[in-house]
This record gives sequence, structure tokens and C-alpha cells, in this order.
Amino acid sequence: MTEFTAPKGIPEYYPPESAGFLAVREAFSDAARRAGYGYIELPLFEDTSLFARGVGESTDVVSKEMYTFADRGGRSVTLRPEGTAGVMRSVIEHGLDRGQLPVKLYYSGAFFRYERPQAGRYRQLQQVGVEAIGVDDPALDAEVIAIADEAYRRLGITGHRVELTSLGDATCRPAYRAKLQEFLRGLPLDEETQKRAELNPLRVLDDKRPEVRELLADAPLMVDHLSAEAKDHYEQVKAHLIDLGVRFSENPRMVRGLDYYTKTTFEFVHDGLGAQSGIGGGGRYDGLMAELGGQELSGIGFGLGVDRTLLACQVEGLTVGDQARCDVYCVPMGETAKRKLVEAAGGLRAAGVRVDIAYGGKGLKGAMKAADRSGARFALVLGERDLESGSAQLKELATGEQREVALDSLVAGVREALGR
Ligand code: HAM
Repeated sequence: MTEFTAPKGIPEYYPPESAGFLAVREAFSDAARRAGYGYIELPLFEDTSLFARGVGESTDVVSKEMYTFADRGGRSVTLRPEGTAGVMRSVIEHGLDRGQLPVKLYYSGAFFRYERPQAGRYRQLQQVGVEAIGVDDPALDAEVIAIADEAYRRLGITGHRVELTSLGDATCRPAYRAKLQEFLRGLPLDEETQKRAELNPLRVLDDKRPEVRELLADAPLMVDHLSAEAKDHYEQVKAHLIDLGVRFSENPRMVRGLDYYTKTTFEFVHDGLGAQSGIGGGGRYDGLMAELGGQELSGIGFGLGVDRTLLACQVEGLTVGDQARCDVYCVPMGETAKRKLVEAAGGLRAAGVRVDIAYGGKGLKGAMKAADRSGARFALVLGERDLESGSAQLKELATGEQREVALDSLVAGVREALGR
């Protein structure tokens, strides 16, 4: 047992698996950039009240899972449990919403939730998210969902699906909420569930207990009580998704863990992951900006879980990311050769080739083993006799095929062999 271990519930990624982590994160970021989203880097902690107000006091995230502490100045701060509230705060603070709309931003990084750790559920989780603020256009909702779908596909994932629903708007939700509450009051629910029904009736719909599910079979659903405008909005989102070739299923009982959602709401699910099947989720949050003291502007976005998506790749047997540490592994035999190859490595790296060297005077056998382990395509071997003839041996590790490259045009020779 080592003296120090990582904090409980926090995944770490190191080579070679970390290549997959980077590849997932990059696939998400790249998909966002390709749709015109600009990068925003935000604080890892914020005023506690931002999350209390933005995410909702009655959510598990705020009431049970926040890492909240007083800093040395006595201010209550919280490690960010999610990204949307922070983005809104920054957009308002810096007046990003005073220019052209929508404001399209993406972010990538760690979030913190004090959850009960288990496979796929961590206390430090990684997300890539996008937020599009200021235009309430159903086509934008479809864009956001399609970006995520495309990113999963690019990684080679096929076992994901997206569930969709509408949570209504300010005109239809209050009436629906009252109707649902009235229905729930008529059921023989236990005390805790009754309390939840009074505080946040929608969340009761998510109850997983079979006996409660049975009682809820005839519960009124938001999608059947949408205002004309919200219904039309929802229909348009679906039509755009069909045009974009995004296959979705409707789940009118979907309950999200954050309170700010309105209208379009969605979740990406992967069935190979057991209980923690949500690999990404998001939706519209039209009242959030005003709630946080900004303009009355709409917004839509998603947060994609990098950790869980990497697990999904593993479940599907996909190798994502370049597991190789380098393209070329230099094997010097003797001091003069070493001097020459250290210099050559510098030149090759400057030319964009990934290069490592057998340091520490390894023998040929040990060095070739290290070359294999590095994942390099070629070993570049330089011995005494090669020095005399002015050339090095470039050996393709997979095939054993060997070719000579002239020492005075090493960079060009290696690049040619790599096809670059
Ligand atoms: P969320 O559904 O709470 O949404 O989280 C998004 C994704 O983060 C989840 O689908 C899941 O993949 C991952 N995730 C969440 N908690 C954990 C955990 N404990 N361990 C591992 N992965 C986790 C949001 O955070 C919203 N801010 C998304 C959004 C952006 N909505 C609108 N804009």
C-alpha cells in the first residue's frame, strides 16, 4: 500500500489509455468548432450562490453533491458541478450578449460532484459542453443535438441513442405542474415521495421503484399539455433532426437533474454501461439568463461526459486515439552515434515527427524492445559502421523491413519513409 492515493472516486488517465481520453475530448471539441462554437475557459470554482440560483436549490446536485467551502476571506465558494451557470455568468459579466446572436461557446474540463462513486460515476468528471445563447430557433436545438450525435459517430460508437422530450415553457409548465401535483396527491405515496411531489413533482416521474411506476402509469405528461407555441417548437426540432439524419426516440418521462430546463430536453444513452448509461445530456434553458441577472435571452446546450464515453468506446471494443508515443525510436550504438542521434531527434521534432531515444546506453536488444513498446513505426539505428558509411538504418518494426537513410539528409529521409 502506498502512502498516498488519489482522492476517492476520481479517475486518472495515464498512457496508453490516456490517448483514448484525449481522443474523446478532442472529438467533442472538434465537433463543436466545426459548427462555429468558440472556446471559453472558465474558473473551476464560483460563488456558491451562482449554482444555488442557476442549477436549483432542490436538485441533488446543489443540495447533496456540491464541494462547497469558505475561502480564506470567508467567502463561500463551490467547485463547479456543471458548466452552464458559469458560462451564463461570464456572458453577462463580459457583455458577450451585446454583440451578434446567438453567442456560441464551447468548454472542456473537470466538474465536481460529491456522488457515491461507482463504475462510470465519479466525483471529478470531465465534460465538453456547448451553449448557444440568444436565439430561440428550433433549428439551433437540432444543431446542438446533431453535433453530439456526429461526435459519437466519429469515434466509431454505434450503440448510443438520443432520447428527446419537451418540458414546456413558462405559459404551459405551471398549469401542468399543478395538474401533476393534483394527480400525485391522490396516490398512496410514502411520506418522502409526497414531499418531493410538493417540491418538485416532475422528479417523481423518474421514480425507479416498480410499485411507484405502476401508480404513475396514468400520470399526466408534459408533452400532452404543451402550449401551442411549445408544441410547434418541439415539432420543428423533430423535423430538423429527421432531416439531419439523427435518429431519436421520445421519452416523455425524462427527468433531468438540473432545474433550468425548458422546452427541448435530451439525453444520450449507451446501453452497454449499466446504471450510469447517460453519456451526455442537455436542453434549452430559456429563463436562466434572466434568473442570473442578465437579459431575457434564451439558451440551449449540452454537456457530454468524456469519462463515460471512453467507457462506451471500451465496451464497444474500439481503440480510440493514437496509442503510439512516437513515430520513430532512435537506437544509438556508442557515444558518437548518440551525439548524432540526439541532434537528429531535435531536427525531426522540429519537422513535426514524434521521436524518442534509447537513453542510458541500452544494448541493442533492450533498445529494440523499448522501440517496440513505444509503439513507434520505425527504429532508427545508428552504429559505428553506419557512422563510417554516413547513413543510418531505418527499420520498420511491424515488418522488419530495413532501409538506409543518409545522415546528411536524415529529416527528409525519415519524412519520406513516414509518407509525410
Ligand atoms: P448533466 O446531465 O448533469 O448535464 O451532465 C452531462 C453529462 O456529464 C452526463 O450525461 C454524464 O455523461 C456526465 N456526468 C455527469 N455526472 C457524472 C459523474 N458523476 N461521473 C461521470 N460522468 C458524469 C449538465 O451538466 C448540463 N450542464 C449540460 C447542459 C449544458 N445543459 C445545457 N447546457
